[in-house]
Amino acid sequence: MLNELQNEIIALKKDKNAIILAHNYQTGDIQEIADFIGDSLELCIKASEIEDTELIVFCGVDFMAETAAILNPDKRIVLPDKNAGCPMAHMLTADELKTYKKRYPDAAVVLYVNTLAEAKAEADILCTSANAVKIVESLKEERILFGPDMNLAWFVSHQIKDKEIIPAPEGGHCYVHKMFNLGDLYFLREKYPDGDILVHPECDPEVQEYADYILSTGGMMKHVAESNKKIFIIGTEVDLVTRLKRENPDKTIIPALNDAICENMKLTTLNKVKNSLINQEFEVKVPKDTAEKAKVAIDRMLKAS
Ligand code: 13P
Ligand code: SF4
Repeated sequence: MLNELQNEIIALKKDKNAIILAHNYQTGDIQEIADFIGDSLELCIKASEIEDTELIVFCGVDFMAETAAILNPDKRIVLPDKNAGCPMAHMLTADELKTYKKRYPDAAVVLYVNTLAEAKAEADILCTSANAVKIVESLKEERILFGPDMNLAWFVSHQIKDKEIIPAPEGGHCYVHKMFNLGDLYFLREKYPDGDILVHPECDPEVQEYADYILSTGGMMKHVAESNKKIFIIGTEVDLVTRLKRENPDKTIIPALNDAICENMKLTTLNKVKNSLINQEFEVKVPKDTAEKAKVAIDRMLKAS
């Protein structure tokens, strides 16, 4: 049952003709009032399909809201907390990427959607953790500049042997997924020998190699829903576990690490969502020329996936 604040938000949403998009790492109370919850790719696709609404409240982090703004130039996109940024996305500036492009002029530039709009504008095509392998495979170039996550770059290079994947920058990472470690997974494997271990491709290579499945958050939702297994150990942010538990009450869902919390995602709260519906502040705007260039790379990804 929804609480008073959640009901107020739902009434406000109707009144303002707004919709709420939420990433899988938002807290359960926000997931419950969202119109759509998803992984980065699902949110991009949803943002590209939105019609008949004037206001999108984006419960996630900056690069996701920017992507929604690029795909919806005529709508108002607001972030409930202006400081909700993804540190990984800030690890690659457009200028740094230009330096890499000069160094590797023959390489195609594939950027993870976890990048700022200014860097997206310098990319040939984008990808998410759900489609990275498919996107790189679709390119004719043998050399790929790939950033900013070095672990996702490793995952792609592990799957595709006939291309050279060059990480840009060196050392780009997600502080949340770097926390997963083999010790915890050994312990959980012993405790739940019948469980599937699912990890995100932002985890370190040894963690990926030990896991049973390497999946995006949307891929994990699908795997748990469709699998005949009963126990799942989840190597990603803890609130994906919240969603998995709510939508799969007959299954046992265990976080691989209780401390895997993305503080940036948690800046969004119900009170801030209510305020953003009322005041519509913290609008996310991308300069027109940057948005136009970035949109080309986003559209290529949407077409290829
Ligand atoms: P997904 O695309 O799998 O949802 O991942 C986004 C993200 O930020 C992972 O840390
Ligand atoms: Fe960024 Fe990591 Fe948080 Fe995802 S979990 S939004 S990559 S800091």
